[in-house]
Amino acid sequence: MTARGRYIALEGFDGSGKSTQAEMLASHLDAVLTREPGGTPLGEALREVLLHAEPSEAPSARTEALLFCADRAQHIATVVAPALETGRDVVTDRSYGSTLAYQGYGRGLPLDELRALIDYACRRPAGASGDLPDVILPDVVVLLDVPLADSDRRVHRLDRVGGEQMSLLETAPEAEQSADHSEEEPSDQRPDGGPDRLEGEELEFALRVWRSYRELCSAEPDRWVLVDATGSIDEVAARVIEAVSTHPAMAD
Ligand code: TMP
Repeated sequence: MTARGRYIALEGFDGSGKSTQAEMLASHLDAVLTREPGGTPLGEALREVLLHAEPSEAPSARTEALLFCADRAQHIATVVAPALETGRDVVTDRSYGSTLAYQGYGRGLPLDELRALIDYACRRPAGASGDLPDVILPDVVVLLDVPLADSDRRVHRLDRVGGEQMSLLETAPEAEQSADHSEEEPSDQRPDGGPDRLEGEELEFALRVWRSYRELCSAEPDRWVLVDATGSIDEVAARVIEAVSTHPAMAD
């Protein structure tokens, strides 16, 4: 009988290099590469609504959480579970950690309610192999650690008060408190071609999300692993591959 594949998620704040690293890891493992939101035709439609809704039609916080989880349910049922069943590994660019970070810590929705919603979305689909767990969460979550000032141009104002060196391992709360919000730079000047709806959120939202990732990582040490995402793409890729291949969940 074929052993089920392993499910690996890349997580991190916007601009952490997740997508490139997910691609490189999937290629190294010969795994299925996918993403949330997206990853299925329905998911791509939800992604468009979620990330590019007009401000007047922006979903409420709960609607947003439900839509991200609807995307996830479809993703698990039609891409992730079928691949894992046939023994393929799956690498996803974002997973449930993003819901906890953005909708939980960012929007302020209760984490226990979000966890219940995530479990519902990730439940093993009817008819899937019993080798798969009842709730299909990633076996390994790689958190890419980037200094906030490197990953988010909204934070450049913090440089003046010492925020430049901030990373998930090393925060400077006094810098956050003294940030001057009076001259928010237009967020449509990002070098990568303009922000999506969540990237366009206020600075405080970004700080809450960025900081929450460290908490999420330490709350589930058996699943999450923190990887230093500074340095060249190849250096980071080597660290990611090392972290994943030595993770206990990857052992046969
Ligand atoms: P990305 O594809 O560039 O990572 O963008 C996806 C955006 O969606 C990013 O800002 C994070 C956000 N997001 C959530 O808010 N909740 C979620 O559950 C997921 C998967 C993504």
